[in-house]
Amino acid sequence: MYDIKKIRADFPNLNISINGHANTFLDTAASAQKPQAVIEAIVKAYTENYANVHRGSYYLSEMATEAYENARRTIKNFINAATKNEIVFTRSATESINLIASTWGNANLNKGDEVLLSEAEHHGNLVPWQNICQKTGAALRFFRVNDDGSPDMEDFYHQLNPRVKMVSVTGMSNVLGTIFPVKEIAKAAHLVGALCLVDACQSIVHAPTDVQDISCDFMAFSGHKLYGPTGIGCLYGRYDLLADMPPYQFGGDMVDNVTFQKTTYALPPARFEAGTPAIVQAVGLGAALQYILSIGMENIAAHERELVKYTNERLSEIADLKIVGTAPEKGGVFAFALGNIHPQDVAFILNKEGVSIRTGHHCAQPIVNRMGYESLARASIGLYTNKEDIDRFVAALQKVKTFF
Ligand code: ALA
Repeated sequence: MYDIKKIRADFPNLNISINGHANTFLDTAASAQKPQAVIEAIVKAYTENYANVHRGSYYLSEMATEAYENARRTIKNFINAATKNEIVFTRSATESINLIASTWGNANLNKGDEVLLSEAEHHGNLVPWQNICQKTGAALRFFRVNDDGSPDMEDFYHQLNPRVKMVSVTGMSNVLGTIFPVKEIAKAAHLVGALCLVDACQSIVHAPTDVQDISCDFMAFSGHKLYGPTGIGCLYGRYDLLADMPPYQFGGDMVDNVTFQKTTYALPPARFEAGTPAIVQAVGLGAALQYILSIGMENIAAHERELVKYTNERLSEIADLKIVGTAPEKGGVFAFALGNIHPQDVAFILNKEGVSIRTGHHCAQPIVNRMGYESLARASIGLYTNKEDIDRFVAALQKVKTFF
């Protein structure tokens, strides 16, 4: 039994009122609200266990190091990595992908090579590849997305060839909501000798994630979408690949031995965590994953599936509302256009009703343009969203229509 009332009570920010209305928060795809358990873990880390990690031979540093490394262990279990040394803490998913594009890309991409992405990538999984391809002379290719937002797998297979060295693809589009068949994509990539990176920012929040089952080589995701703090992201990398890669940034904590002339580097993950890391944010992310596990990822997925169905039904009642992204495999992200009303105007009126949505190109301008728009409104759900949120959203949309 999914106790949505109890779950909602865990999120203090959901209980505030906005412009005199209940808080109808429908922008979880941009950043999720935080449960009390995460807030408390952060407070505890600062008030009881705080010191720098990996450096001190004293109680507080040992406690902080243990909490930081425990968070790494929790993440390892959450995504079923083979060892916790495959988990690198970064600042964000964007930084994780920049790390791979810069280090792996610089060392492995050459003229004549290709990097293959889908048309639905977020800028975070597009611009770093554009940059490294420009630098190395590799070609950047995109496989098509169909008009309903589903991946055109025929085009994917058509474009996959032995020149492709990396397939980097979203697990779930932040605009279309499409869930991409990453297991199939990784398998096909390996058959032509390419590696596969999954941008799991959206997908990891909505369903169980198993990197060994997917058999991806790298995975990137952020903490703040997973109900954890901002300023923390993760990179999963197959250990043998990480061990072969040069460092990303240089400085303290990533070294083995340093002389005035020369430095040897630490083994992963330390090699990729130069400087004092985001200690407390990592601990907060660990607490967020524990919170998710206490509800059960399968239960969250089932709750959200039900809500996706309900939202589709309710939105279909509104004449002139077009959902952009209607693939059969779709999660709780609803980009939409409401007649000719500018998305910014839609959001303005919704905000007056206490409803928060995102508008614009959603940091994925090429796919928004590809679907025929400059800007879209977008509502997105999370584990705490209930049917009343959707009802208030639909009622507010009706008001927008009356107003215009
Ligand atoms: N990538 C986040 C979004 O889709 C910020 O809103």
